[in-house]
Amino acid sequence: MTATKGLEGIVATTSSISSIIDGVLTYRGINIDDLAENATFEEVVYLLWYGKLPNRSELDHLVIELSGYAQIPQQIIDQIKLYPKDVNSMAALRSAVSSLALYDAEANDMSTEANLRKAKKLQAQLPTVIAAFARIRAGQEPIAPKSGVSISENFLYMLTGKQPDKVAVEALDKALVLHADHELNASTFAARVTVATLSDIYSGVTSAIGALKGPLHGGANEAVMAMLEEIGTADNVTNYINEKLANKEKIMGFGHRVYKNGDPRAKHLQKMSQELGKITGNMNWYNMSIQIEDIVTGQKGLKPNVDFYSASVYTSLEIPRDLFTPIFAISRTSGWTAHILEQYENNRLIRPRAEYTGPSHQAYIPIEKR
Ligand SMILES: CC(C)(COP(=O)(O)OP(=O)(O)OC[C@H]1O[C@@H](n2cnc3c(N)ncnc32)[C@H](O)[C@@H]1OP(=O)(O)O)[C@@H](O)C(=O)NCCC(=O)NCCS
Repeated sequence: MTATKGLEGIVATTSSISSIIDGVLTYRGINIDDLAENATFEEVVYLLWYGKLPNRSELDHLVIELSGYAQIPQQIIDQIKLYPKDVNSMAALRSAVSSLALYDAEANDMSTEANLRKAKKLQAQLPTVIAAFARIRAGQEPIAPKSGVSISENFLYMLTGKQPDKVAVEALDKALVLHADHELNASTFAARVTVATLSDIYSGVTSAIGALKGPLHGGANEAVMAMLEEIGTADNVTNYINEKLANKEKIMGFGHRVYKNGDPRAKHLQKMSQELGKITGNMNWYNMSIQIEDIVTGQKGLKPNVDFYSASVYTSLEIPRDLFTPIFAISRTSGWTAHILEQYENNRLIRPRAEYTGPSHQAYIPIEKR
């Protein structure tokens, strides 16, 4: 038995949800470029869950259904009020999502209908949890979701208490489309491993949130913004990046386990970053990002991934840095839940083996002799 470190190149399951073939990402066979240009997030959510694009009435129905589930139990709001104010936002999300199961009467109902309903509740309630957390820690009261509006619009509304402008809603929506699913990424794999024991969907999504939290996965977008803030201005970029590369430090937002010739999602976020910079009148983050890309790609051949330009996009939308990864989680809940439903449909326990590298033939020494 020989281990493959990081399971690189190992095909661990079959799936009909999304594919990455020759550097092209598709959801249910539709190129991400077409979805990014044309689809709303709810259209993508429907596509991932049902395997086809919705018609107008199916889409309208889903928007109403999701917004109808968006309210979270008062007990969750009370619980969030007890969290320390400086708690990590992904840790808060992980705890609150785990607790949602406690207040869902069908949490342990494993029927297909109940699982799809719970997928909808999770998709609808994550934005409400995150907005409530953001307001509560700022000493504000949470705002109840509106009915009949999209997740992007509702989230920005619940976060700020103001009606968001169209440009902001469309930008966030496109970012959600781009992050919705990504084959067997670490958090999706974590979700599938958890539910393959026939544990419930809340446990699966809670596991996934834990995996997404790490800086090598979802946490990279926050790390990118931290780096941009640390660099400060375009004049400092060259020295800063050269020094990091000389010290063999990783530049967050670059490189990818699967894409070696560039992440197809990055160009859409780059365009959005530039457009939002023009609209807000602050091109600093975009200009710095472009410079960083030139240096890192020029010297290391590494291309930006989905996280690199997300950082400046979310900052232009005035979203606090530590909510970037929770927003990634809002989007990826669609993919996680689609994969969980797929796993249940054709389940087999996921239990690989390990190559043992410890000592062998060790004698047991009684405790008094150690
Ligand atoms: C995404 C990532 C974890 C993929 O990791 P991986 O497939 O295990 O690739 P490795 O970390 O083994 O990298 C391979 C080589 O490229 C280098 N490299 C990879 N990403 C790099 C980065 N962001 N900056 C500088 N060098 C990088 C590694 O140092 C390594 O070089 P070496 O062969 O000289 O040791 C990795 O590229 C990374 O850490 N990127 C930064 C974090 C990030 O943006 N994550 C979001 C992913 S969507």
